[in-house]
Amino acid sequence: MAHSIAIAKTQDKADAYRSLMPQLEALCAGESNITANVGNVCAALKQTFQWWWVGVYWVVENVLVLGPFQGPVACTRIQYGKGVCGKAWQQEATILVPDVEKFEGHIACSSLSRSEIVIPIIKNNIVIGVLDVDSQWLHHFDETDAAALQDIAKLISDLC
Ligand code: SME
Repeated sequence: MAHSIAIAKTQDKADAYRSLMPQLEALCAGESNITANVGNVCAALKQTFQWWWVGVYWVVENVLVLGPFQGPVACTRIQYGKGVCGKAWQQEATILVPDVEKFEGHIACSSLSRSEIVIPIIKNNIVIGVLDVDSQWLHHFDETDAAALQDIAKLISDLC
């Protein structure tokens, strides 16, 4: 397996995702441990985009429990339907939050997080976790991020 990534020198984030995706696949190839793989996926995303926080919460006994992540310490458990993560789980849909202060019920793990995107990780039609990304910049995520992060959530699901 690969042990490093090459970060595309581009201002175009679609290009950055296009360059990153095969590298994520290479990073995970040959390793069967999900913690190792998802830890590396989170690290590669943070290295590439310098987001404030990127990580995974897994559905464990009907609650979201913190999994591998990169960034400051975060809340460890999120209930179904609560916060952006719990709502993405409930709705089985990606949720884009341009301004966290305007999202009712947002759970603030860090006051420095300003915008957020959460993508459900679905396996066999069941939500098994969520991929959560926080940015220190307002209005940071758009449909390009949503589409690419959905591909990455699918990659994670395939690794499970
Ligand atoms: N903001 C999330 C909580 C998790 S942290 O951002 C890492 C939410 O509202 O669900």
